Amino acid sequence: MSTEGYLNQIVCGDCLELFKDIPDNYVDVAFADPPFNLKKKYATCNDSLEFADYLNWCKKWIAEMVRVTKPTGSIFVHNIPKWLTYYAAYLNDNAHFKHWIVWDAPTAPMGKSLQPSHYGILFYTKKAKDAKIYELRYPHKRDRKYGHLWKDYGGKKELLHPFGPLVSDVWTDIHRIKHNTKRDPHPCQLPIHLLERLILMTTDENDVVLDPFAGTGTTAIAAKRLGRRYIGFELDAKYVSIAQNKLIANYYPSKIGDYWVSFYLDEVVTLRDKEWNDLKSYFDMPAYSKAIEYQRAVLKKYISIPHSSNNNIEKLSNNADNAICKALFQEATL
Ligand SMILES: C[S@@+](CC[C@H](N)C(=O)[O-])C[C@H]1O[C@@H](n2cnc3c(N)ncnc32)[C@H](O)[C@@H]1O
Repeated sequence: MSTEGYLNQIVCGDCLELFKDIPDNYVDVAFADPPFNLKKKYATCNDSLEFADYLNWCKKWIAEMVRVTKPTGSIFVHNIPKWLTYYAAYLNDNAHFKHWIVWDAPTAPMGKSLQPSHYGILFYTKKAKDAKIYELRYPHKRDRKYGHLWKDYGGKKELLHPFGPLVSDVWTDIHRIKHNTKRDPHPCQLPIHLLERLILMTTDENDVVLDPFAGTGTTAIAAKRLGRRYIGFELDAKYVSIAQNKLIANYYPSKIGDYWVSFYLDEVVTLRDKEWNDLKSYFDMPAYSKAIEYQRAVLKKYISIPHSSNNNIEKLSNNADNAICKALFQEATL
């Protein structure tokens, strides 16, 4: 297949083989969420390799991610801290460290201290200079019932941004998909708005985002919603089929006016700082600066929220043409 043939496709196969068809410096962002070698029950891949075998394999696809990324581009790798320490050692010699993003994802109590409750996302740029990176904002964290700010900003409330703070390297506002009805029959599907945040931070419209472990297509859907192009590789034909079906259903651009933003349910959860001056006319603002304490900036009622099937394949599974989705959905909800 020509390289163009890979654009906006989820291709079934081994990523190390498929990478061979992607030229150097071709994509704007490479994002990977590999199997974590935690004995998860994937349909096809072996998630239980020997320590050294796993790391040797990881080095190969990380090297490919760096190779195919443009000099202005970024590389993200999602995993548990244990493996990220090894990835970082390798990436430090081959790319430029930007951030270790902590994604807070609490799990059920297991009766021990220091129980793992975050994932890491390593953020590297291919080169030290000229990388494309945008500042992002997310909504202030508030008390659910009364809408009051969680954080006490003391006498500095007038200085607060009416929408919310700049995104830091600790992300506590994006939750894992827990409910079976909201997820595909895949053991570790990521939330779309996690990927949207990374994509808004490092790409522009039409840029190309590559994910060598596409799973059920989260990265591709995020890219598509944000008007970016995507390339996904996935070993398992069933996951490829689910991803392709979801991509057909997810065609609503995630936009307000001319600006790409990330939504979760009916709220904007990430926007670009430099676009706030234009975006703010779409929001009802707190009445005065100190009112930020208890009033959020809310999208005006007439703004239509782009709706899509989100992570939910129920609609797809109800479609008689979609036999695989239907079977898998039943399996997942048993
Ligand atoms: C952690 S999951 C990715 C989940 C994905 N981020 C999502 O949200 O759906 C890892 C995926 O990598 C796939 N995989 C494993 N080995 C692979 C390989 N050599 N080439 C391509 N895909 C592979 C697995 O089938 C699995 O779907």
